[in-house]
Amino acid sequence: MLHDVGAGVAVVGCGSAVPAVALDNDGLSRVVETSDEWIASRTGIRERRIASGDECLRSLATTACQNALEMAGVDAADVDLILLATSTPDDLFGTAGQVQFALGATKAVAFDLTAACSGFVFGLVTAAQFIRTGAYRTVLLIGADVLSRWTDWGDRRTCILFGDGAGAVVLQATAEGDRLLGFELHSDGSLSGSLNLAFAGQARPLTDETTVTQGTFQPITMNGQEIYRFAVKRVPEVIEKALFRADIGVEQVDWLLLHQANQRILDAVGDRLGIPRDKIISNMATYGNTSAASIPLALDQWVRSGQIKPGDTIASAGFGAGLTWGAAIFQWK
Ligand code: UT7
Repeated sequence: MLHDVGAGVAVVGCGSAVPAVALDNDGLSRVVETSDEWIASRTGIRERRIASGDECLRSLATTACQNALEMAGVDAADVDLILLATSTPDDLFGTAGQVQFALGATKAVAFDLTAACSGFVFGLVTAAQFIRTGAYRTVLLIGADVLSRWTDWGDRRTCILFGDGAGAVVLQATAEGDRLLGFELHSDGSLSGSLNLAFAGQARPLTDETTVTQGTFQPITMNGQEIYRFAVKRVPEVIEKALFRADIGVEQVDWLLLHQANQRILDAVGDRLGIPRDKIISNMATYGNTSAASIPLALDQWVRSGQIKPGDTIASAGFGAGLTWGAAIFQWK
């Protein structure tokens, strides 16, 4: 039932949700040996949200979707596809189906997509392919993570970085020009060991011929300096390639919207591209690194505050575990 083959992609709504409880740097310094001064000067982070009580990936993702659908003026029953970019599902079999049910999006097919902190950008490009082929008209794309579940709260090199949250966008087919102007995606598994949330199990014999390995995922480990070097080298490159594919110059970019990993990374990437600081979107101070959620969460904040305006050109880029990195150049509405 292909229809509208060759349709363009429009981003017509966004929404977000964060846990109610904030943990500031002073609070964290009661958990590990650190200080507000160290965290703020090395990362730009002042506080982060932590999911507690009834809050979970499904609840945050569902609220973000409801806000995005409301902004877009789209009924949940009209959604064709729900893509949930996450590395921290409530259920390893996938959480997208629970979001579909909670929204009442009865027609939608729903599945999870895992590409760590690149998940939103990889998801945006994936969603666009379904729209461009004419397979689906309306897609809900969510970036959501609850990294606090898997943070090593005894490791001061990593636990200061992460927070929880969710963001969502509504994408629709349009005959009025494709607003996804260009993209470029990459992976390099040879560096996968520098950022992990890895399964570790123990083998035990089940029968004479069979061994099973069971265990659980282990808290996040990271080589911070390696990831930092990777980001400041690869992210400007991938944005330049995506701009080339979009056939626009860097001076036509209204907003640089990077995965919110570290303020120093955002500034270094902006400097390399020659993008001034007032065009670099950052909510690092209030939310920290929320993995797949960080781009749509910041997008929603900048749209709702009226800073991002219809027609603005946004250069977005995600990067992180895998390693994965990618950029998408799109216009808001
Ligand atoms: O989504 C992608 C995820 N990851 C990233 O984007 C991470 C990229 N990397 C970074 O953001 C930085 O590498 C960090 C912020 C994680 C660390 O900053 P750094 O400047 O690379 O610090 P470092 O690990 O080299 O540590 C410098 C010093 C060390 O002390 P010594 O060995 O020089 O005496 C650490 O023990 O700072 C110490 N340190 C801390 N001190 C106070 C490390 N973490 C802390 C801390 N509080 N939280």
